[in-house]
Amino acid sequence: MSGHGTPVPMTSHRCGPLTGEAQVPGDKSISHRSLILGAMAVGETRISGLLEGEDVLDTAKAMQAFGAEVTNHGGGNWSVHGVGVGGYAEPDQVIDCGNSGTGVRLIMGAMATCPISATFTGDASLNKRPMARVTDPLELFGTQAVGRSGGRLPMTIVGAQEPVPVRYTVPVPSAQVKSAVLLAGLNAPGKTVVIEQEATRDHTERMLAGFGAEITVEDTEEGRVITLTGQPELKPQVIAVPRDPSSAAFPVCAALIVPGSDVLVPGIGLNPTRAGLFTTLREMGADLTYENEREEGGEPVADLRAKYSPNMKGITVPPERAASMIDEYPVLSVVASFAEGKTMMAGVKELRVKESDRIDAMAVGLRANGVTVEEGEDWWAVTGLGPDGVPGGATCESHLDHRIAMSFMVMGMGTQNPVSVDDGGPIQTSFPIFTPLMTALGAKLESAA
Ligand code: S3P
Repeated sequence: MSGHGTPVPMTSHRCGPLTGEAQVPGDKSISHRSLILGAMAVGETRISGLLEGEDVLDTAKAMQAFGAEVTNHGGGNWSVHGVGVGGYAEPDQVIDCGNSGTGVRLIMGAMATCPISATFTGDASLNKRPMARVTDPLELFGTQAVGRSGGRLPMTIVGAQEPVPVRYTVPVPSAQVKSAVLLAGLNAPGKTVVIEQEATRDHTERMLAGFGAEITVEDTEEGRVITLTGQPELKPQVIAVPRDPSSAAFPVCAALIVPGSDVLVPGIGLNPTRAGLFTTLREMGADLTYENEREEGGEPVADLRAKYSPNMKGITVPPERAASMIDEYPVLSVVASFAEGKTMMAGVKELRVKESDRIDAMAVGLRANGVTVEEGEDWWAVTGLGPDGVPGGATCESHLDHRIAMSFMVMGMGTQNPVSVDDGGPIQTSFPIFTPLMTALGAKLESAA
């Protein structure tokens, strides 16, 4: 698990054109859900293209601890023999979710209405993150949660013996909270209703329907109303995990800022609840095109082609787009540094409770590299220095956050002086092949490992 190992300092040097094809790994959100839902189906779910990053591997181990049979067949092919809705066994050890908020929050939801207890922990980053946003609604089902002060891990969840269905309006735009409540609703009799005011990634809803649950989604004045009928028998699935748009963001953004680049990133999931970054980049004037648009496994998919874009302009990113690109603001702020003018990013308070406080982590690092950043509690703004104007030269702290580490490595590909991070180890959580993949395109990354 990241955060437990020795720090891995990394440096990114200005490089020549990035060219070729970038086969990025499977989608992290869909990979977690494939394992968790597979473990709740009756029979064998087969998964191809699973992301084999530390976050997802921790979820695979957790599903084994809850009684599912999880097998790695090699090459991203996995199978899960599920125990049925309500069939999770009580783990005999603490569940360590490593760095993964998605892993711990979804698994807490999935076990919250089973008559078992489990204790969860994580690394130094995860153990600082708020869990009350998940345990508050889970308590409505009859679940109990006892954690550290401020609702932090380590935390024990005592599943409801006789769960009741709930109706819950999610107070923050969070797919993890929504998903935790829906997964808990699976083993509650009757209808569980989750309302979200802003649409967040909808993989859980799509996959629940795919696994045979009765689920409806309605857009109403109250918001997006999701109604799930509890205690279905979930049918095992064959799942081909699309490639992760949040990982694609790194080679795409690197190509935009490195002179002469032309990179193809094939097979990227472009679910509208995830694709906000690409819309934003195009509005900034990026040469980014979608080729071969198609549908795979119920998700829209395309090949992305990104070319060097020296004429990008700063824009105001609409706050209502935030949920669809929430993980991409760090790397967007890097691109914004190479654009002309100011990029304003508002309505992004959630960035402060990710693997790190991402506004703070990026603002400090960008400033150290010569970029002007202004910030408030729920907004930040980056003033670009143009395509060849970013000095670089600093070492930035990654704060156990994979996306911070990768964003600064992308930055160094286009700055006048190299950019370093104190620890690139966390990259293993979501994009274990980042260094070889970027190096094959032409990046000059140096790592102490
Ligand atoms: C995720 C939801 C988002 C996102 C995370 C993955 C998911 O978190 O940041 O990387 O798979 O549901 P929030 O629900 O906290 O916004």
